[in-house]
Amino acid sequence: MIVVTAAGGSTGTAVVRALRERDLPVRAVVARRGRRPELTALGAEVVVAELTAPMQWARVLAGAEAMYLIWPNFDPDEAEGAPALFAEARRARLPRLVYHSVLRPQLRGMPHHAAKDRAEEALDTSGLPSWRVLQPCAYADNLDAQLPEVARTGVLRSLWGLRGAQSLVDLRDVAEAAAVLLTEDGLDGGTFEAAGPEALTAPRLAELIGARLGREVAADDVIPGGEVPSAYAARCARSMFDHYRAHGFAGSPRVLTTLLGRPPRTYAEHLVDVLVPEVQT
Ligand SMILES: NC(=O)c1ccc[n+]([C@@H]2O[C@H](COP(=O)([O-])OP(=O)(O)OC[C@H]3O[C@@H](n4cnc5c(N)ncnc54)[C@H](OP(=O)(O)O)[C@@H]3O)[C@@H](O)[C@H]2O)c1
Repeated sequence: MIVVTAAGGSTGTAVVRALRERDLPVRAVVARRGRRPELTALGAEVVVAELTAPMQWARVLAGAEAMYLIWPNFDPDEAEGAPALFAEARRARLPRLVYHSVLRPQLRGMPHHAAKDRAEEALDTSGLPSWRVLQPCAYADNLDAQLPEVARTGVLRSLWGLRGAQSLVDLRDVAEAAAVLLTEDGLDGGTFEAAGPEALTAPRLAELIGARLGREVAADDVIPGGEVPSAYAARCARSMFDHYRAHGFAGSPRVLTTLLGRPPRTYAEHLVDVLVPEVQT
């Protein structure tokens, strides 16, 4: 049994799918009660548990061989909450924990990176018998919601400027790497980057989307206005785009290639699967 947290989110559901494709039993942890048709259709056991409620963890981890710990995106409790869960996992004698971090958590100007850096530090001293860390770059899937609008308008809105390049990684590749880290031997104490094969600027992304759509697409620089917001999630998003604008967010695909045993998907390959004919105009 493998426990996956934040399983109702995009990352969690992708990891559950990758594990179920390997016929592994999965306990999917969600925050809110209610029907979870996507998770149950995948054959996962769905349990409701607040990540910040430690009392429930012995029950959630009962009989588990491993846990994939995803903390909800831009959540202010990660720096304290993830280490608390490492301690719960140790108390429950969990054999293995894999932590879903981010590429370059040491970029502390982004609060959500700083939180993951602190969590990684706590993992090192957690006393867990087997732990691994996955550090994904930004997902190619982050742009999917914008694609119908791009198809309609011929404009890709870029909050990260026109020069910063990101090594966008397909979430399916991230999830497959997670499955490798959860199940294979010889990876303990390892920290593994998951970056896509090419560093892509917004104009290059526009070109690739245009090629898929068969129409001209241009990238438009949308410069955020005003002060950096004080609310945690908004501050994370703003500092992230400011960082990408100034420095990009690029990494090497070599580690992910080794984990997958093949090169990660290109953005053009990602588009073939997500830019379906009905959004083309
Ligand atoms: N997007 C990227 O490019 C990228 C790249 C690298 C790393 N990451 C990291 O990936 C992680 C997951 O991101 P995501 O976008 O997949 O997450 P997400 O879609 O925001 O999903 C979060 C899920 O967490 C659950 N949740 C929220 N609060 C909870 C709580 N207190 N207790 C238990 N569950 C709770 C929610 O479950 P319910 O459905 O039950 O409400 C929600 O479905 C983040 O840590 C992010 O930093 C993302």
